Amino acid sequence: MRKEFNLLGLMLLLCFWVCAVTASVTYDHKTIVIDGQRRILISGSIHYPRSTPEMWPALFQKAKEGGLDVIQTYVFWNGHEPSPGKYYFEDRFDLVKFIKLAQQAGLYVHLRIGPYVCAEWNFGGFPVWLKYVPGISFRTDNEPFKAAMQKFTTKIVSMMKAENLFQNQGGPIIMSQIENEYGPVEWNIGAPGKAYTNWAAQMAVGLDTGVPWDMCKQEDAPDPVIDTCNGYYCENFTPNKNYKPKMWTENWSGWYTDFGNAICYRPVEDLAYSVARFIQNRGSFVNYYMYHGGTNFGRTSSGLFIATSYDYDAPIDEYGLTNEPKWSHLRDLHKAIKQCEPALVSVDPTITSLGNKLEAHVYSTGTSVCAAFLANYDTKSAATVTFGNGKYDLPPWSVSILPDCKTDVFNTAKVGAQSSQKTMISTNSTFDWQSYIEEPAFSSEDDSITAEALWEQINVTRDSSDYLWYLTDVNISPNEDFIKNGQYPILNVMSAGHVLHVFVNGQLSGTVYGVLDNPKLTFSNSVNLTVGNNKISLLSVAVGLPNVGLHFETWNVGVLGPVTLKGLNEGTRDLSWQKWSYKVGLKGESLSLHTITGGSSVDWTQGSLLAKKQPLTWYKATFNAPAGNDPLGLDMSSMGKGEIWVNDQSIGRHWPGYIAHGSCGDCDYAGTFTNTKCRTNCGNPTQTWYHIPRSWLNPTGNVLVVLEEWGGDPSGISLLKRI
Ligand code: GAL
Repeated sequence: MRKEFNLLGLMLLLCFWVCAVTASVTYDHKTIVIDGQRRILISGSIHYPRSTPEMWPALFQKAKEGGLDVIQTYVFWNGHEPSPGKYYFEDRFDLVKFIKLAQQAGLYVHLRIGPYVCAEWNFGGFPVWLKYVPGISFRTDNEPFKAAMQKFTTKIVSMMKAENLFQNQGGPIIMSQIENEYGPVEWNIGAPGKAYTNWAAQMAVGLDTGVPWDMCKQEDAPDPVIDTCNGYYCENFTPNKNYKPKMWTENWSGWYTDFGNAICYRPVEDLAYSVARFIQNRGSFVNYYMYHGGTNFGRTSSGLFIATSYDYDAPIDEYGLTNEPKWSHLRDLHKAIKQCEPALVSVDPTITSLGNKLEAHVYSTGTSVCAAFLANYDTKSAATVTFGNGKYDLPPWSVSILPDCKTDVFNTAKVGAQSSQKTMISTNSTFDWQSYIEEPAFSSEDDSITAEALWEQINVTRDSSDYLWYLTDVNISPNEDFIKNGQYPILNVMSAGHVLHVFVNGQLSGTVYGVLDNPKLTFSNSVNLTVGNNKISLLSVAVGLPNVGLHFETWNVGVLGPVTLKGLNEGTRDLSWQKWSYKVGLKGESLSLHTITGGSSVDWTQGSLLAKKQPLTWYKATFNAPAGNDPLGLDMSSMGKGEIWVNDQSIGRHWPGYIAHGSCGDCDYAGTFTNTKCRTNCGNPTQTWYHIPRSWLNPTGNVLVVLEEWGGDPSGISLLKRI
């Protein structure tokens, strides 16, 4: 026994020593090198807070079966540090669990710490409190910003090290990213940008993770940081040093959706073609952004107008089901690439022309190791090419892969996989609705926040709510001509965005909202004023904070003015500088009507008294979970705009009242793809269905709460299964 133990101990010690010596990630001019092996790696983005921990194992399994080697995720600072020094790593933000589950599924991890992440995520991932650190300026050579960034980055790296998650510790993390697409910003701001880039690289490298760092879209990434490419195509990208590998950190599998726009899809023929072209041109790492997009739960989606669904036309859809034929076709592509790996990592390609817009890229060691890629770049004509002793048919805009330089095992445009369209079908769940109408706020004597000025919204709310009331009074004399002639004055309100509901004396006078490219809006309408005191209540609504753009932290939201009243005897009265009161959030929010316990604080009505088509209305119903495990979604098409909760969890903002604009014609896979080339859903609500994760439901008695701003009919809401 003792002897056996000794032997085992010795073996363990030996293994520990050998493993510790060999476990390493480095790189050379061809690839990332893991434990001394060059690797061609296929990666996919899955962002942990955009799904639930219960969904992660199945997502990873589908990723593994789909031929992925690596899971890429950002780290979401504002989710982890909601207030300074108070950290949160539970539930959907359990980063360590996410990484460990990826490892258990046999996957590596690429950790994009940022901590600026862009990602259509609220404020690009920055906590809103960061904006109020004295003297701060984001993403530049600014001491308060660098101190905060270093603190958070160090926190994450230490956490990963403590859990042994870097590859050289036996963990799955093979690479980390610092910053995100900083190159274009640096180009704009010049010297301080350059200094910041150098600082960020040095700071990151100094953290001694034992695995390489990358900076994406950063042509001047300082050594040893690898600069990488993002885009729909990256075959012509070259890293900034000839000893760095050619890597693609974001190959956009579709595009994000924003309320008011049609939904983008990217044909898999083109996506596969982009990957094959990259690999045939010495590319060694491809990441699908996104492989599973998921859902922007709660208020996590960014401005401007990013939808709750972050499906992205990714190979795994928002609900966790495979998106066919995309998932299967890419799986077959990955298999073919993997068969070529021995040749790809060994030599550089020889490129020969096979005719007009026709090429062969051959990786041959001169021995039996040989892989070839035959490409047809023409967008219209198919071609038959002669290569070696064979003839090969190449559809337009396609690449064929020959892992032994003879057998065509895969062509990017020949999609064998079934295109089974996923759909939503009815469940038998019914809702017995109750309603509570919230009165618009009014100014009053004892208002605590007042000013003779119009204030920027986020400075007041600190983003604790989407909603801010701007309240004021207007006195109308009995001598006003409009009292006699009925030509009511025009109220003009200029707002920096994103949505505005105007109430006059408690009545909704109108709603206006911005669009993606221009969140600014103007309300201009005649208003029903009466003699004496009139109550003007402006409800300004933010739909997420911006995540991208030069110094986006300085962008304004809310009613910045002017606010004027035109058509009085005096002409135009400027209300901008009179007394305004401010109220943050809705009354229902302060009463926590969205929670199970808070719901009992008001009297709800039901049956024939149920409110319909009323602005600012809260709805509540209980329901049982439908049998089975199919993913679930709510059809919200009868509603306007607001937010939805199930059992106290926010499933996100709904806005089916925003109809998708854009043109949705036919779309040919061949030819350069852009995010406006292939679109669906024009003329319909941008987003009708809202994902409810199964794990948030109990078998019976689930509480569904809907806050409706515009006015809707809850009897039209239904629970659907995705199959
Ligand atoms: C990239 C950015 C990502 C994401 C993407 C669009 O430029 O790096 O974070 O925002 O655009 O989905």
